[in-house]
Amino acid sequence: MVGIFGGAFDPPHKEHVSIVKSLCENGLFEKIVLLPSGNSPHKDSLSPYSSRIRMIEAAFRGLPVEISDAEWSFSGRAYSSVILPEMKKRYGEIGFIIGGDSLLAFRTWHEPKAVLAVCPIFVVPRGDEEIDSLRAFAEDLTNELGGSVEILSNVKGKDVSSSLIRAAIELGEETEDLPIGVREIIEEEGLYSEKRKMAEKVKSSLPEKRWKHTCGVVLTGIKMAELYHIDKEKAFTACLLHDCMKYSEIVHKGVPEDAVGTKVMHAFNGAEEAKIGFGVTDEDVIAAIRYHTTGRAAMSDLEKLVYLADVVEPNRTYDGVDEIRAAAFRDLNEGFVLSLKRSYELLLQREKPIYYLTVECYNYYCK
Ligand SMILES: [Fe+2]
Ligand SMILES: [Fe+2]
Repeated sequence: MVGIFGGAFDPPHKEHVSIVKSLCENGLFEKIVLLPSGNSPHKDSLSPYSSRIRMIEAAFRGLPVEISDAEWSFSGRAYSSVILPEMKKRYGEIGFIIGGDSLLAFRTWHEPKAVLAVCPIFVVPRGDEEIDSLRAFAEDLTNELGGSVEILSNVKGKDVSSSLIRAAIELGEETEDLPIGVREIIEEEGLYSEKRKMAEKVKSSLPEKRWKHTCGVVLTGIKMAELYHIDKEKAFTACLLHDCMKYSEIVHKGVPEDAVGTKVMHAFNGAEEAKIGFGVTDEDVIAAIRYHTTGRAAMSDLEKLVYLADVVEPNRTYDGVDEIRAAAFRDLNEGFVLSLKRSYELLLQREKPIYYLTVECYNYYCK
């Protein structure tokens, strides 16, 4: 049987390679056909097809794979219900390989019944997805729509996110998740570098430790944006710039007078700098930077995201961080309120001045 393995491969990462390796070792498939998405209905704008092919060739070198341009060359929307019959014509007996996350979203696919009618589906569980619950889901699905779905419990994959890899590259940071040779192609072709200049400028204005913190906030922010369906690009920019004025002597016009010289000043100052120094015009992003320290009443999800990513990023080690971190990835609001309460109570305990916006924020969310 030939395994059909689709994906954006933007970029291909080590987990893709390890899945293909174990699929081949497993003996189920004599060959894997990689099917990079073209104009997929599920993905935002992708890197150029030719760049993705170069990366795929480097990543899967030495493995029994073939790259198919069936999705790319398809003129309409390349739904699986349309592409898979084409693959079947070409390769004969086929099996369609998808991730556990895709299985859970299967009912939202275009013509799911038609997809199931073409060929058996093989599911690679990702991360901590429970194999048993995937099995139960698959059983319900096939009872309802027909076809065959098998959970490949011996090919369990790690949870690696291409968005996080792209964000690390935008920041100019190393990432361990790229196969050999892929980073070089990324640099050569200038992929994922839209925000690179911005990142370099922020990096040059911060001490090393604060830059590490900033990278932690960006990556945490991207994870949350994925989880809570918040605009990833806005999250990236707001997190990247949130502390950009932490070490500056300049006080921009637009910083409230009662904030000048206090611990909350850098947030207002950063919002002004985002406009003046970085050309940010998006009001959502500017507000998320402005209120990342004080909070305020009636915050947007993006504002909560930056506030929370700031206090739970991996370099944070204060007492109680684990609890807030867990809550932050369970429910955005729950995490936010927990963190707000903690910092408000600490300020009270230590008899520190509390900025009026923080009082308003606390009254709004915690009373
Ligand atoms: Fe800050
Ligand atoms: Fe910060």
